[in-house]
Amino acid sequence: MGEFINPADVPKVKLYTGEEIPCVGMGTFGSDRNAPELVSAAVAGAVRCGYRMFDCAACYGNETQIGEVFKEAFDEGVVERKDLYIMTKVWNNMHERVEESCKKSIADLQCDYIDMFFIHWPFPNYHAPGCDGDSRNPASRPFSVEEFMNTYRQCETLVEKGLVRHIGLSNMTIPKMEAVLPLMKIMPAACELELHVSFQQQELFDYLNAHNIQPVGYMPLGSPRRPERDIFPDDVEDLQMPEMQEIAKAHGVHPALIALKWGHQRGQISIPFSVKEEKYVTNLKCLTEDPLTEEEMAKIATLERNNRLVKGQVFLWEGAKDWHDLWDEDGVIVTL
Ligand SMILES: NC(=O)c1ccc[n+]([C@@H]2O[C@H](COP(=O)([O-])OP(=O)(O)OC[C@H]3O[C@@H](n4cnc5c(N)ncnc54)[C@H](OP(=O)(O)O)[C@@H]3O)[C@@H](O)[C@H]2O)c1
Repeated sequence: MGEFINPADVPKVKLYTGEEIPCVGMGTFGSDRNAPELVSAAVAGAVRCGYRMFDCAACYGNETQIGEVFKEAFDEGVVERKDLYIMTKVWNNMHERVEESCKKSIADLQCDYIDMFFIHWPFPNYHAPGCDGDSRNPASRPFSVEEFMNTYRQCETLVEKGLVRHIGLSNMTIPKMEAVLPLMKIMPAACELELHVSFQQQELFDYLNAHNIQPVGYMPLGSPRRPERDIFPDDVEDLQMPEMQEIAKAHGVHPALIALKWGHQRGQISIPFSVKEEKYVTNLKCLTEDPLTEEEMAKIATLERNNRLVKGQVFLWEGAKDWHDLWDEDGVIVTL
């Protein structure tokens, strides 16, 4: 067995419910490049090296394999179920059948209940896993408060039934949240959003904190091996930025670890992904030692480049202008 990082040494963040959860979890999206068995083997290694949080999703197509390694870890006494914080997400084609999706994830992950259950995208627009960037579904439509709340109410019912402990949002905007938060009975505990040094989403980040919704940053390293459909010529490579390289050199580590330290010290949970043991071990360990200075934090704050990587164009509806319409950039929900 490789290195073990004591989970007690990993910093925690507090949800509005008072529960403390790790400031870092392992991502499990194989980016259409890593087979399910490769990802689940990494999860098996990660549990044994001290990870206690995992970010899963029905649409990643690997929950069955990940569930097998969770069960093995429980059976072998590596961890108990209560020691893990398991997150998953309902995919866009199941917004009308949330309980069915949740029960399937629970069965596949062999985990009895879900700690954080996200609505992966705020509309039911479906694209097939592994599709290319030009793929469109003619049934796609703009965000609807009514449709979203219908899905959210089903999540609230799952909490009432004890299948889910916390509800999470994902890929939301401030205008959408302004419309739906007042309608909720059970407030969301977290929101997953793209967060990395060249895409800091400061306004949305502040909004979430002001509403006691924990930001969970996806693609915290700028996802250097994201799916082809999410790669554009003007994209910035975070870890190649000279400032990141310089700070990394000063700490004697890879720039990836600087990105994670920055995210943590800023107050976000990060969910980096790697199937390589050396990488996922250091991604956890780096948060237990050698923090960035205030000057380094301030320097990284200047690296914002509005570099959105997941543009979401595959979710566009008939009549939509382009991917900007998904993100309500003018402060109003785009409905045309
Ligand atoms: N809610 C959503 O809509 C949503 C969207 C996207 C992602 N997510 C979640 O966020 C997770 C993370 O996103 P991501 O996987 O796209 O991007 P990421 O974590 O930013 O980047 C992963 C890439 O970084 C490399 N890497 C990891 N640790 C490293 C280290 N210590 N040093 C150097 N390179 C390192 C990996 O290399 P190797 O390839 O060599 O392992 C991998 O290619 C996903 O797995 C998923 O769980 C959620």
